[in-house]
Amino acid sequence: MNISVVGTGYVGLVTGVCLAEIGHHVTCVDVDEAKIAMLQQGKSPIYEPGLEELMKSNLQKRNLVFQRYKDTSYESVEVIYISVGTPQQHDGTADLSYIFQAAEDIAYKITQPAIIVTKSTVPIGTNRKIKKIIKSKTSIPVDVVSNPEFLREGSAIQDTFRGDRIVIGADHPEAASVIEDLNRPFGIPVFKTDIESAEMIKYGSNAFLATKISFINEIANICEKVGADIEDVAKGMGMDQRIGNQFLKAGIGYGGSCFPKDTKALVQIAGNVEHEFHLLKSVIEVNNQQQRLLVEKAKERFGNLKGLRVAMLGLAFKPNTDDMREAASIVIAEELVREGAHVVAYDLIAIENARHVLPMEVEFKNSIEEAITGASAAFILTEWDEIKNFPLNEYKEIMKTPIIFDGRNCYSIGDVEISGIEYFSIGRKSINHNMKVPSK
Ligand code: UGA
Repeated sequence: MNISVVGTGYVGLVTGVCLAEIGHHVTCVDVDEAKIAMLQQGKSPIYEPGLEELMKSNLQKRNLVFQRYKDTSYESVEVIYISVGTPQQHDGTADLSYIFQAAEDIAYKITQPAIIVTKSTVPIGTNRKIKKIIKSKTSIPVDVVSNPEFLREGSAIQDTFRGDRIVIGADHPEAASVIEDLNRPFGIPVFKTDIESAEMIKYGSNAFLATKISFINEIANICEKVGADIEDVAKGMGMDQRIGNQFLKAGIGYGGSCFPKDTKALVQIAGNVEHEFHLLKSVIEVNNQQQRLLVEKAKERFGNLKGLRVAMLGLAFKPNTDDMREAASIVIAEELVREGAHVVAYDLIAIENARHVLPMEVEFKNSIEEAITGASAAFILTEWDEIKNFPLNEYKEIMKTPIIFDGRNCYSIGDVEISGIEYFSIGRKSINHNMKVPSK
């Protein structure tokens, strides 16, 4: 099938590459000409395991083409995916101007009937607006289909090939069937519904996952106070299949380009129909507090962070990505700098992106060893394998005082106890520190 994908951000690029991989002829277009030039050479602008290899092989097979937006025509294109950005505005709502601009351009450029598939996360009702815009500008028949994306950064290729479901929201069964057929080689169950429900499935899914995270973080905070261990608690809860064992990892809160944005947008969407989404507002509030938790623990431990050399290990919002959007490390670095600490930061991949978003006072290092040298405290913020596997005795040897604040529970309590290192984590007892022990 001849497919165009408008927008080569995370979603668009992965979608285009994977559709090419299953045998379609895909043209990915973007207004960012420098990015297109890079993509044409087989270089991925984002770090995503496996993506560049698939890009290169499909460029070679000639079923993947990258094109500047201004050179684009939709001649003989049967399906056009819209996957442009929907950035968050000040009031939490999604900015849809890129979506509507893309819709207008499609209307001007199509030469034959086409199905427009929206991959971008858009508020309920947007697909209908897209259809209206296109219909107002052209008499060529188009159908609009909502096909929300469920891939995670860092495992995007795997998620695309092994997803749990493909959701197709359409007005007409014929259009839904075309998109179902197009996706058949993925071998993933398809769920067909109406457009509004498909749009809502996306927001509902992300909001529910964010709720799971804030819920387990609240449980973790209570665990610390009552002397329970969140790792065991989450495991024991997750063994109940009604609860499920995923997204129950306590930590320093969720970040990234999706959960923070989509939860706020859903609160707004609910507000627009005069429904106050109390639960989701609390989820957001809990997350904001959780991002500050390690700094609170450090303040409690040291009394005052002024002049303290603090190493931040891991900066990306999660491992296997260079994405710094809404990363907890940003909030934590800002708080530490405000408290007068000297922050030294390291990340395997995200360091270049981090330079643009962390406070200018932050010093960057090229290895864990360099970052913790002479430090009085180490904050673990992203559970990269490199960090999880870093030997505990090295903290003891290299740091000025080996005190770890582990926001991702990377080390087992047993190992830390043996090491003699002072250790504070999430939802577990503090180790080798004579803090108040809860009475049982
Ligand atoms: C999320 C969803 O998981 C995808 O299904 C969805 O397609 C995507 O948003 C999107 O809307 O585009 P993503 O943001 O890439 O994917 O990453 P996640 O793996 O969901 O992690 C998000 C944040 O939650 C990270 O900061 C992570 O550290 C945190 N998290 C995740 C936890 O703190 N605990 C967990 O148990 C899981």
